[in-house]
Amino acid sequence: MPFTPDSELDLLFPADLISSEVKSQLHPDVHIRPLASTDHARGHLGVLSVLTVATDLGEAAWAAQFRAMRAAPSTYYSLVVVEKASDRIVGAGALFVERKFLRGLGSVGHIEDIAVDKAQQGKKLGLRIIQALTHVSEARGCYKTILNCSDDNIPFYVKCGFERKENEMAKYA
Ligand code: ACO
Repeated sequence: MPFTPDSELDLLFPADLISSEVKSQLHPDVHIRPLASTDHARGHLGVLSVLTVATDLGEAAWAAQFRAMRAAPSTYYSLVVVEKASDRIVGAGALFVERKFLRGLGSVGHIEDIAVDKAQQGKKLGLRIIQALTHVSEARGCYKTILNCSDDNIPFYVKCGFERKENEMAKYA
């Protein structure tokens, strides 16, 4: 499939929220952009499956989730890294902006679901995804950007400029 430019896509959020500095540092074989309404066909779920179970309920269900996210203004910022030669997704990440009553009605940015295709790991794509999401978080005025990760991934996030703070608690349904 030939590479599809941003101008021909229906994007989750404005493309100008992707840092131009991050774009300029990105590996030349790939492009970083907001998630697009047609990204189910570019392998979005396949990339996420390196992280955890990403059951494919079909393109229509995926597209309905995309529309539901876009209908919540200034909240969901999912982005992808696309291999130019194939127009396939090789990396993904998301930022969720949570509005608060404290900190002067402040907002917190939550980084979620960072995944890089196994064949593309080690090329700084993960780092660029984190930098791009942190840029969106700061551009949206969040007073902090936080995430949860396994012990194994702590060195990666330290290299991305994050520091260890507090503990994660979970209760699965
Ligand atoms: N342990 C130690 N160092 C690491 C690790 C690790 N697990 N992963 C990356 N690094 C280092 C790299 O060596 C590199 O160091 P350098 O600057 O000295 O060369 C630096 O971190 C940046 O690495 P990238 O090349 O950007 O990492 P990559 O593109 O491979 O992405 C990621 C890292 C996202 C963890 C990838 O390996 C992946 O998709 N793993 C499986 C899914 C996963 O665990 N995702 C994170 C879940 S946590 C969350 O989503 C909030």
